[in-house]
Amino acid sequence: MALKEVLIDELRDMYSAENQLIKALPKLAKGAKDQTLKTLFTDHLEETKGQVERLKQVFQSLGEKPTGQHCNGMEGVIEEGADALEKDEEGPSFDSGIVGAALRTEHYEIAGYEACISMAKTLGLSEVASMLSENLTEELTAAKKITAAAQPILKAAARQPEEAEKKPKSGKEKYSDKKSKEDEKKAAPDLKKRAA
Ligand SMILES: [Fe+2]
Repeated sequence: MALKEVLIDELRDMYSAENQLIKALPKLAKGAKDQTLKTLFTDHLEETKGQVERLKQVFQSLGEKPTGQHCNGMEGVIEEGADALEKDEEGPSFDSGIVGAALRTEHYEIAGYEACISMAKTLGLSEVASMLSENLTEELTAAKKITAAAQPILKAAARQPEEAEKKPKSGKEKYSDKKSKEDEKKAAPDLKKRAA
């Protein structure tokens, strides 16, 4: 497969990722307790719609269609966000989880755009690289704004008392716990080799 085809696959992945975020960001905005976070997510939703349009222009300039690839990575990252939204936590602690989830989505996109821009530049597709750079700049700015907005939220969460009693685990949490132990077990032989 030529680099241009790899790039088109990656771009289709990004296109799917942005479309998935258009559905996920309103849920984060609705779920967040902090007004600044709510506004950031709502503003970024509008930006994301613009990013989808920009990606369509990229595909047009390449003479390709934007669909064809579902982004499993973003689906997983959004799923983690859905978990954060289900958490039975108080205000700032709840929002701290949302911040973690939102930053994951932004950094996933940042990595994707950086890879696509490098490929486009290598191929001499300067117009494509420059359109993608506009999306990248918006993602970087969004991540910075979320990190800044998180500071007072994290401080408030740090002041919240720890719960006296552990809440019983949901079915989903039990499954996640089991899987995490399997992850650890599978890695153990390799880790042992390292220690030896
Ligand atoms: Fe985006």
